Amino acid sequence: MRKPNLRDARKRTKEEVKIISDAYIIPDGIESMGKGKKYYLRTYGCQMNLRDSETIRAILEDLGYEKEEDYLKADMVLLNTCAIRENAHNKVFGMLGRFKNLKKQKPNLIIGLCGCMPQEEVVIDEIINKYPWLDFVFGTHNIHALPQILLEYITQKQLTIDVFSNEGNIYENIPVKRDSKYKAWINIMYGCDKFCTYCIVPYTRGKQRSRKKEDIINEIKALVKDNYQEVTLLGQNVNAYGKDKAGNNYYLENLLQDISQTGINRVRFITSHPWDFTDDLIRVIKENKNIMPHLHFPVQSGSNKILKLMGRRYTNEDYINLYKKIKKEIPNMVITTDIIVGFPNETKEDFDKTIDLVNQCQFDGAFTFIYSKREGTPAAKIKDTVTTEEKRNRLRELNKLINKYMLESNKRLVFKTVEVLIEGFSENNKELLMGYTNTFKLVNIKGHKDNIGKIVLVKITEAKTWSLNGEIIDEKEQD
Ligand code: 5AD
Ligand code: SF4
Repeated sequence: MRKPNLRDARKRTKEEVKIISDAYIIPDGIESMGKGKKYYLRTYGCQMNLRDSETIRAILEDLGYEKEEDYLKADMVLLNTCAIRENAHNKVFGMLGRFKNLKKQKPNLIIGLCGCMPQEEVVIDEIINKYPWLDFVFGTHNIHALPQILLEYITQKQLTIDVFSNEGNIYENIPVKRDSKYKAWINIMYGCDKFCTYCIVPYTRGKQRSRKKEDIINEIKALVKDNYQEVTLLGQNVNAYGKDKAGNNYYLENLLQDISQTGINRVRFITSHPWDFTDDLIRVIKENKNIMPHLHFPVQSGSNKILKLMGRRYTNEDYINLYKKIKKEIPNMVITTDIIVGFPNETKEDFDKTIDLVNQCQFDGAFTFIYSKREGTPAAKIKDTVTTEEKRNRLRELNKLINKYMLESNKRLVFKTVEVLIEGFSENNKELLMGYTNTFKLVNIKGHKDNIGKIVLVKITEAKTWSLNGEIIDEKEQD
């Protein structure tokens, strides 16, 4: 049993990151473990987790398992978890409760847990004490070792925990089975060294380590050959790409410039921290039409006092100046953000500064959260006096304002023609198609299904807060 440890997870040494290309091996004895069997994999949290699940899926299918959407029919159930807020934890523990009952009816059911939650010491202790009927647990650093972990489990037939808290390596040549045939997530870096005081990610995902340019470009070139239309570059803070390597001067702007020449039609990137956002980056986005004009640009708070306590390393004024500069240089840029309300001891005045900032920026969209205490982070030590009710009221007020600007932003598109990558059928109405605009707005569309997988021109007919309606304009020619 290998357990995580917070002290190790916080460590950042000068040790060089290893790039390991031969770690994925299927050991003798489990090659056909999943033959004739089904797995249910549920993913919580961010795009990074969704991408990890595409690897987990590939590994399980290498072992012969088939995908199953209904956990009641599965032989193996696995939860890929998120640790960012308490409610993500609660959902997972709720699901585990259901699996416990299921195991009473199906004693051969194999139950696994992975992702960010097992990287937390407190979670592992809770599992050992309250969930000993779980079968296997692994973390974010050893997904490639899933076959070995499963072998250990089936050999010993007892709870197998393999989670470690090293700073992290980079694993290449690990299989992937992508969810989409048209758009792909591409990890360009792992981990985070920003250590914002409220955030658990630098502990669960390890130190920042950038993938080699050649590995990223080759991955994208292969996708272009397979007719992929869009890639989204992933990192906790993509603007810091390359800054973890001593003597390196190849950064996100250089990478984006090179990726834009691979033949891929659309390039996105998330998430951008305001700290490392350079003029060169703005120039490269502006100059390359296939780099999409959408920026997810978390501000977190409008109060300088709170930003300082959060360890964000910019002020309200820095953020707004940068925001205005980006909008001036790239007027069609759509900017969305993340905001936390109720950071410990956030006063009404602090919150009003956030409201002021939202009014100045008029974001096209935002994810908003009530602060959630994460054990082991510096902010968890701050004694908080703000009531939960007050925090809920602030969130409600903020959401109302965000929604107002979101609807206004969407309304500006009505009767305009936009490019949309058609991804499939609309979730709520299977007679409609769905896809995203260049600016990452969801559109439900009237049109022929032959357009799935293509980038087409769509006329927007109606704007709602969370989505747009539209119709494909050159439909007749395509019929
Ligand atoms: N509580 C609430 N929200 C958080 N986030 C990160 N950590 C916390 C926390 N402890 C939010 C931030 C980040 C987004 C991914 O999640 O806004 O940008
Ligand atoms: Fe967390 Fe801050 Fe890193 Fe984002 S930049 S993952 S909020 S520590």
